[in-house]
Amino acid sequence: MRILVTGASGQIGSYVLERLADEYDAVGVDLKVPTIKAIKDIVIRGDLRDFNFVRKVVRGVDVVIHLAAQVSVENSWKDPVYDVENNIMTTINLLEAGIKTGLDRFIYISSAAVYGDPHHIPIDEEHPKNPLSPYGVSKLTGEHYCRIFSEKVHTVIVRPFNVFSARMDPANPYSGVIARFISRVKQNLPPIIYGDGRQTRDFVHVKDVVNFIEIALRKGKSGEAYNVGTGKETSILELAEIIMDLARVKGSPEFGKPRKGDIKRSCADISKARKLGFEPETDLKKDLKDIFDKI
Ligand SMILES: NC(=O)c1ccc[n+]([C@@H]2O[C@H](COP(=O)([O-])OP(=O)(O)OC[C@H]3O[C@@H](n4cnc5c(N)ncnc54)[C@H](O)[C@@H]3O)[C@@H](O)[C@H]2O)c1
Repeated sequence: MRILVTGASGQIGSYVLERLADEYDAVGVDLKVPTIKAIKDIVIRGDLRDFNFVRKVVRGVDVVIHLAAQVSVENSWKDPVYDVENNIMTTINLLEAGIKTGLDRFIYISSAAVYGDPHHIPIDEEHPKNPLSPYGVSKLTGEHYCRIFSEKVHTVIVRPFNVFSARMDPANPYSGVIARFISRVKQNLPPIIYGDGRQTRDFVHVKDVVNFIEIALRKGKSGEAYNVGTGKETSILELAEIIMDLARVKGSPEFGKPRKGDIKRSCADISKARKLGFEPETDLKKDLKDIFDKI
């Protein structure tokens, strides 16, 4: 089985490709050269906005795992057209080229950003979708295309919550907060919290996302969406305390003005993923300890 992982030089894509390359004939594609040695020779450089390139790269491929995207909420406001091109056009190009070349499966990595401000917690897949940014709108639009095209190719939608790993980027809107807090305590400074710190997130380690993508590949139902998180809520204040403890930084965090557009709570209902055999292994304290020296 030949698998193409898009966004393979990015945080999640690099782990996905590393794992799948052990078992399958897997290659990656990205605008950037990967920094991870293990996948350097199997990532093709190219731009998925270019249909001619996409046509070439999907030829002979059985499964596409589409992670390539513009992921910054802030940049999606600054340049919504760029966001549309990288998040929507790349998705349509891959679906269209894949269908023409006999693609078997398309796994689309969407986002919890499609839900917007939650009406209820935990958030199940049927929760209303009211994205709050151009980024959320573009990820949701990609989902709609997957659903519509699911008559022609088996498409599975994956909605990760806040993914963290040793390879996360401090600018990443999902878990950049972890990298920024770690960077502060490493300078012996307290983390800076925007707002009162009672806002919550569902932080899920990348290993769980990779595990679920493998499950989705084998058992995901066509046209269906699945949340990937831990089902546990952690407040930003708790996160700051865990990280201060790890670095033995005394005192309390600093508080800044709340950030516009920050949602109050977030937590995934993962019963649907569990029905396919998914069980999260994230242990926030332990995993943060493991990555502390690596970032
Ligand atoms: N990080 C999270 O917590 C999180 C949560 C929910 C959903 N997601 C989704 O997961 C996916 C991966 O996120 P990530 O955190 O690894 O982001 P990332 O920015 O680290 O990786 C994205 C990669 O896509 C590549 N890319 C963008 N446009 C491209 C194009 N036109 N052609 C080829 N490559 C292109 C980038 O160069 C980058 O390497 C994204 O689709 C994102 O929306 C991430």
